Amino acid sequence: MKVNGTPYRTIWPTADNTAVEIIDQTKLPHIFTTLRLESMRDAERAIRDMQVRGAPLIGVTGAYGVALSMNHHASDAALKATCDKLLLARPTAVNLRWGIERMRAFLLPLQESERAAVAWQEAARIADEDVEINSSIGRHGSELIRATHQKKNATVNILTHCNAGWLATVDWGTALAPIYKAFDAGISLHVWVDETRPRNQGASLTAWELGQHGVPHTVIADNTGGHLMQRGMVDMCIVGTDRVTARGDVCNKIGTYLKALAAHDNGVPFYVALPTPTIDWTLQEGVKDIPIEERAAEEVTHISGLCDDGQVRSVQLTPKGSRAANYGFDVTPARLVTALITENGVVKANAAAMCTLRDMSSLNIDDDQLEQLR
Ligand code: MRU
Repeated sequence: MKVNGTPYRTIWPTADNTAVEIIDQTKLPHIFTTLRLESMRDAERAIRDMQVRGAPLIGVTGAYGVALSMNHHASDAALKATCDKLLLARPTAVNLRWGIERMRAFLLPLQESERAAVAWQEAARIADEDVEINSSIGRHGSELIRATHQKKNATVNILTHCNAGWLATVDWGTALAPIYKAFDAGISLHVWVDETRPRNQGASLTAWELGQHGVPHTVIADNTGGHLMQRGMVDMCIVGTDRVTARGDVCNKIGTYLKALAAHDNGVPFYVALPTPTIDWTLQEGVKDIPIEERAAEEVTHISGLCDDGQVRSVQLTPKGSRAANYGFDVTPARLVTALITENGVVKANAAAMCTLRDMSSLNIDDDQLEQLR
């Protein structure tokens, strides 16, 4: 996607494969700046401190982290230590494990001397695949928006939570990819953007990237969605996810579950957009089985923003001494999810449909065949 007219990805290797550049997402929306990662430790820190964030981008950064490490130490022991360290950077998004384990499986059978070059090729392949996958998600999801537009014959209002746009991936995004594709196809739409406390990925990142693309949007306080749905001001919700279980439970940014409950109560379709690497086939029950990240209390007690003097500063919101809890994610049970939008098409969030999807990922069945199977 473009930033001030210039095409960007969120992560890219330097020409000589000695470093990786990223957009520093902790500085947006007020400052657009890039950062250079030169070691596995830089990659691990960038993931942990959320300079890169969003499930697919975390996975790709993990893969590049392995490549950075292989430039210096490529023994079996170094590969294991690198993968083990990177896996600990953030616990909830399964894409991190997926990206790192794919690198490990690819590199382990190779000679030590071959590993560095191949690691960079494989990390680049994972990044390119992410772009293709998200473009396909956009294609499938935009048909849902088109169908709603045809039925309604007026602007389609879509609510999204957190940031599942191109900043959360290598390009296009997951939840926002259908929105970009539909908007580019000339469909009239408007996006309600949940601010997404405590880190405000909606207010800071989603609003910024929608604005860069010229998509009409309105930022709302997190608690507004239910009210809008009761008044018929939301036609559909589309969110991303950090991990989906084999039976279709969806883990996403804290607050997603409440939006799904409100959507269910008001008959508003609730879609979840995801690349298939976000499915954790080893888990069934999301609420019980998915590890939920708990982050620093300061993310709740403090907030940062642009001051009148042009400086970005952090200020305290809460009384000194009040404790704060910071759970990063929640789980929406499959029964509240209308459908999953994947690169292979739109499927129901249940074990039977997900099995079909699993077979499809390896068989590469086309859309018509997928439609017949639904
Ligand atoms: O804590 P974050 O900002 O990494 O959380 C991101 C989200 O919850 C996204 O909605 C999710 O990763 C889907 S991203 C395509």
